[in-house]
Amino acid sequence: MIDLQQSGTGLDGYPLLVAQLRALLSGERDFIANAAQFSAFVFQELSDLNWAGFYLARGAELVLGPFQGKVACVRIAFGRGVCGAAAATGQTQRIENVHEFTGHIACDSESNSELVVPLFKDGCLLGVFDLDSPSLGRFSAADQAGIEQLVAVFVELTDC
Ligand code: SME
Repeated sequence: MIDLQQSGTGLDGYPLLVAQLRALLSGERDFIANAAQFSAFVFQELSDLNWAGFYLARGAELVLGPFQGKVACVRIAFGRGVCGAAAATGQTQRIENVHEFTGHIACDSESNSELVVPLFKDGCLLGVFDLDSPSLGRFSAADQAGIEQLVAVFVELTDC
């Protein structure tokens, strides 16, 4: 398991995770299979998470996709909550304290920080990948860069 807190100390584990992810997804391009594997991989390899998974773009809404963690809200309109903000803006949302984010959707009261990365293929929004943590300020800028890289590998190796 990679300790995200160490990612700024020179012990950055993301290059290793990228290599492991490439090996894990090689030989399979099915979206559901790879999305399920990707969620499980991130959830097991990164410390201090309580949820990791996909919301997929369906019209003007995001709909719950493969994930790890407790049951979650199923539909999120674009522009609502942290996930909806990532979908509407196309920008990663790195939220140190979700209780200070207007409109945050509390699927699990244990969540305190959140990172949401939008997924694009050929310029089209496929959905978002959402990480929640029970710790405040869990995700550093280095974590954001590392997780964006993992998401890019997922999109590259998956038929969408
Ligand atoms: N907190 C998210 C909702 C999804 S759950 O965290 C799994 C949001 O505000 O969009």
